Amino acid sequence: MEGPAPCPGSTNKEAAASSENSSCQSPRAAMSAAGAPHATSGNNPVKSPEAPHRVLIESASKFRTCRQIGFYRRQKQLPPGQSSYVAQLDTLQVDETCASLQIIHQGTKVPLNLQIIAVIGGIIRLKINDVSPSKKRYEVSDVLVKEPASERFTVAEQELSSLTLEYQQGLYKLHVTAQPFSITVTHEEKPLVSVNSEGLLYFEDLVSPSPESVIPGINADEPLDSAKDDFGHCEKELQDFLDSKTTSVGLDFSLHGFEHVYGIPEHADHHRLQDCRESDAYRLYNLDVFGYGVHSKMGIYGTVPLLLAHKASYTCGVFWHNASETMVEVNYKASLQPEIKDAPVSRKKKAVPQVDLRWMSESGIVDVFLLLGPSPQDVFNQYAQLTGTQAFPPRFSLGYHQCRWNYEDEADVEAVDSGFDEHLIPYDVIWLDIEHTDGKRYFTWDPDKFPDPVQMQEKLEKKKRKLVVISDPHIKIDPNYMLYAEAKQKGFFVKDREGGDYVGRCWPGSSCYLDFTNPEVRDWYSSQFALNAHKGYTDTLFIWNDMNEPAVFESPEGTMPKHAVHHQSWEHRDLHNLYGFYQQMATSEGLIRRSGGQERPFVLTRSFFAGSQRYGAVWTGDNKAEWDYLKISIPMLVTLSVTGISFCGADVGGFVGNPEPELLVRWYQAGSFQPFFRGHAVRDSQRREPWLFGENNTFLIKKAIEERYTLLPYWYLLFYRAHVSAEPVMRPLWVEFPKNPEVFGVENQYMIGNALMVVPVLESGVSSLDVLYPGSGELWYNFRTHERIARQHKQKVRVTLDEIPVYQRGGTIVPMHTTVGKSTGWMEDTPYELHVALDSKGSASGELYIDDGHSFQYAQECMFTFRRFTLQKNVLSCRSADNTGQVTAESILKKVLFMGFKNRPSEVNVIIAGKEKTSVDFTYNHKLCLLTVENLSLDVSNDWEIHIAKS
Ligand code: NOJ
Repeated sequence: MEGPAPCPGSTNKEAAASSENSSCQSPRAAMSAAGAPHATSGNNPVKSPEAPHRVLIESASKFRTCRQIGFYRRQKQLPPGQSSYVAQLDTLQVDETCASLQIIHQGTKVPLNLQIIAVIGGIIRLKINDVSPSKKRYEVSDVLVKEPASERFTVAEQELSSLTLEYQQGLYKLHVTAQPFSITVTHEEKPLVSVNSEGLLYFEDLVSPSPESVIPGINADEPLDSAKDDFGHCEKELQDFLDSKTTSVGLDFSLHGFEHVYGIPEHADHHRLQDCRESDAYRLYNLDVFGYGVHSKMGIYGTVPLLLAHKASYTCGVFWHNASETMVEVNYKASLQPEIKDAPVSRKKKAVPQVDLRWMSESGIVDVFLLLGPSPQDVFNQYAQLTGTQAFPPRFSLGYHQCRWNYEDEADVEAVDSGFDEHLIPYDVIWLDIEHTDGKRYFTWDPDKFPDPVQMQEKLEKKKRKLVVISDPHIKIDPNYMLYAEAKQKGFFVKDREGGDYVGRCWPGSSCYLDFTNPEVRDWYSSQFALNAHKGYTDTLFIWNDMNEPAVFESPEGTMPKHAVHHQSWEHRDLHNLYGFYQQMATSEGLIRRSGGQERPFVLTRSFFAGSQRYGAVWTGDNKAEWDYLKISIPMLVTLSVTGISFCGADVGGFVGNPEPELLVRWYQAGSFQPFFRGHAVRDSQRREPWLFGENNTFLIKKAIEERYTLLPYWYLLFYRAHVSAEPVMRPLWVEFPKNPEVFGVENQYMIGNALMVVPVLESGVSSLDVLYPGSGELWYNFRTHERIARQHKQKVRVTLDEIPVYQRGGTIVPMHTTVGKSTGWMEDTPYELHVALDSKGSASGELYIDDGHSFQYAQECMFTFRRFTLQKNVLSCRSADNTGQVTAESILKKVLFMGFKNRPSEVNVIIAGKEKTSVDFTYNHKLCLLTVENLSLDVSNDWEIHIAKS
């Protein structure tokens, strides 16, 4: 799985951790040819006295393959076929909250309780749990925003062998078959999804008499878990690998008529999920995988167990609410539709595409939500109803972020910061990685390198810029380190199975891990961000949570052993995928609390779970400075986006290694059109500030960053919409063109909002690209030249290194700034312009959202301006999009561009608040059909109209 090591003869992690590897830098011919200056301290990294001693098994065998995963192997011994479970229909009880009944395994006779819940808003929840458990199973808490409100099912039919429940006045029906037990959900009488129709319901129970009776054909004399682990190590040799618990659960789903499924991040793989028959299953297990391989189904840093299925007529989702290690198999096939009682004969026998899914989790219960759509946005709404929407970020965090492991000291920070000013490149945030601390003790500063962190931040703040520092979950064992001593004394660390504090190794050496699953620990951790709690923790300091899978060096798979013990005695295996979620939750809460509940936090996390969108941003971890990684970043990010995590990005330039200048330029161009925009580089890589690559490359990078800043009003609007309406910011084409099957597999083009289509250049030396212009009757315009694209749905487009193609869709209005400043903070009063792209009917619409950019006043006191622009019949009107908004300040519109305006108008007039007409200046470019109305001074918080008189 691992790619080549950065230095011959060293492992990836060792190379990363070592501070002496300057010899492994790749030649940078183009850069030096251009005579690029280098920043002072970075090319000869100072040897860190704390460089951790790392002995790691950095080979493919470090991470388990499917066949090495005990519960997966066990479940795979149950082949598809007739389920051994029978539904006891006579146990059915229906009340206001759910329909419940028992299902019994014919072999073991162990009964299970099935709850079927009609969640208001188009969601069906199925819960399967023990009737009389020998030990309580873990149920995920804190991921759902609240217990979902339900409505009563109607029992439409009940016979001895089947049962029909109705939902939403019969629009959806659930046909429950008793033997073998299965459920088919229909929509308008057409089968949509079947549950357990492949007979793969699996529910291990410690009280089961023998595996033989659970799984036919298994020899009971051969224990399912031998004394050796999956690698053949015996427990003594490698204690932590032993995987001896049998609490696994599984279930299958068949999605009828579907050929495209997406979701279940995080994998460095295609957007459309791949068939698993010939390869591994998708693994959902949060792991620290340095320089992960591309096109792999192995689990990396985060998990969202949400899968979306899409076809031209329907979109639905499956949300598997389980935080233990999970495997998902996807099989595409054609199948006869299931027989639904009383369905017309023609429907019974037709072969249709189908996707079979098999979900398998190591522990917990079966708790699954079927999100019934039927549109992509309905599924986003349903998922957001359960897990919340994207936190609305402070505006500065939508600017450009400059990071590296590490900016060495205060002088380095100042030099880099000034570098942006010297080269007139906007940026908002500089980041400090682990070396800023005193010996990897988080919440401290290296006293020599960062003696005055407050002054450093004040200097940045004067320039309206911010600082982000890293805060990892491992805490150095050092009785003199206050944070450690206090957490130890309070019993706040994860325990080992003997009841002591679990000890693992990470950057600081031997460390303990805060048990963020404990609300008391989270509360205490949040309080660490209080302004007086730690030196240098100011209100312009924001936080980066890293290594929170959690990463544990020298431990199996580089993470915490499954038998480690958390709050309320839950094993790590039960909640592994939630660990990072909880850290980000506590951090984000801490930042809110330090401001007395006034300010929006910014927290970046590497590890995440469903619901993490409520707490901040996510990035895709340790990618490499190679073209393949730029390419895979697109499907990775659109996948995160459709699973609720809108604020996502990949390290621009690639974290590991040294990008060739062309790659770096292309990455900035793509990154500037991605939600979280941060350049980052591994320790010992060559310095990478935007001006180090020669004049022309500096110019191109600057241009890409500037474009990001001119588009800030659009980005801000999209994040507001993501926050209030669950609309993904970055969108795969199928979300915007759901009826157009041609785009369902496209992953080299994507949309930002509904208006901009981005076609990043993902290969070296490209001089032309095949661009698909989706939609029927849709008009597209070149975003920069404003030229209309001739109506061809596919075109070869010439590209140069100057920019990547971006198109504006006809019918949209994109709000922009007229100029850029040093950072977003300098642009608060910058005037606006509107780019109006006409559709084939000459209409367009769009919005602009403005608030103070940092506080919660928009929500608490409705302090915002939210305006809608509509062009119809040659009149562009500006009206309120939300009357509850209190105008915050005057915001001036200077310019409007109308693209696709066929004839030169005779005059253009402005009418403010229904009063007199005033004629305004305009220019008209006949060739481009571009009407430009300039020198306006319209307050966007007023109602006004621009009337364009035809000649
Ligand atoms: C791993 C993270 O993925 C990377 O971004 C960071 O620079 C290193 N940890 C060091 O903190």
